[in-house]
Amino acid sequence: MSPFRITRTLPEDATDAALRTDVRDGLSAFPRTLPPKWFYDAHGSDLFERITGLPEYYPTRAEREILVDCSAEIAAAAGARTLVELGSGSSEKTRHLIAALTGLHTYVPVDVSESALTQAGRALIAERPGLGVHALIADFTAPLTLPDTPGPRLLAFLGGTIGNLVPDERAAFLASVRGLLAPGDALLLGTDLVKDEDVLVRAYDDAAGVTAAFNKNVLAVVNRELGADFDPGAFDHVALWDAENEWIEMRLRSRTAQTVKIPALDLAVDFAAGEDLRTEVSAKFRQEGVRAELSAAGLELTHWWTDREGRFALSLSAVR
Ligand code: SAH
Ligand code: TRP
Repeated sequence: MSPFRITRTLPEDATDAALRTDVRDGLSAFPRTLPPKWFYDAHGSDLFERITGLPEYYPTRAEREILVDCSAEIAAAAGARTLVELGSGSSEKTRHLIAALTGLHTYVPVDVSESALTQAGRALIAERPGLGVHALIADFTAPLTLPDTPGPRLLAFLGGTIGNLVPDERAAFLASVRGLLAPGDALLLGTDLVKDEDVLVRAYDDAAGVTAAFNKNVLAVVNRELGADFDPGAFDHVALWDAENEWIEMRLRSRTAQTVKIPALDLAVDFAAGEDLRTEVSAKFRQEGVRAELSAAGLELTHWWTDREGRFALSLSAVR
């Protein structure tokens, strides 16, 4: 048997139906919104990889620093034989953790991006022969069935991606994660921390314009999949700090009054000049908030690590 398997848990037509529903609901609402998972087609996944190397985008470097320094401790605390990673992307930082988990039997990367899973899977097999890799093309906000592999399990959710969910969605998500864990399993969660507004805004509005291209890529996805006629050049990328909610909000602001047609939905959407389409939030956290959200889901924070500059945190939690 090949050590690399990839399983599509969502049929393509279900994905298509979900996109239609999300676009119809989001573009008919005020303010207009689109959910972030549609950023990540193959081009979007490539653009995100470029974001992770930008000088302004500190979260990837900060989280990698923690993983390099603390993976041995994490591995000792978790002792996992199965590592499940949600929103795994390139799995690039995860290799430090995989290397430290000496008893690891299977790695289960879960992502909506098939291209990211395939590339990451091949690289890992080459690096750690003998490790089973069972990739799942799946939506982590929907109910998930994990392959039957040996415990204990460590479930990792890195990159600060939990911040891309709003508080209600986070509560539902953490409750479902809790449901995937048995006593003795653990959750490793990466959270970006509240810091200076300028540093935060620059991380989501880089000088080279890669984040702007990434944000606008969602319009290209809707054009390709639903035949829409969005002109990405007719929108400006906007990143702003919402101090009350403690999140960065990503928007696309219509430069002019315009009507966008979406033939597959038989829909025409009018944008006023200056009207915003909200594409993503990226919430920033404090330790007490993380502890409380985990606790509400039946999880107990047992370890907390940050990078040397205190920008980003990894927490380990156990089933309560
Ligand atoms: N963990 C990586 C990638 C973070 S970017 C890192 O830290 O660098 C977010 C990742 O989550 C992308 O790979 C994207 O394809 C995936 N993703 C976003 N929404 C998702 C969803 N609803 N279900 C599954 N994967 C999702
Ligand atoms: N999880 C990443 C984050 O919140 C995703 C991300 C980074 C992102 N930059 C972005 C999403 C720009 C949309 C636009 O940091």
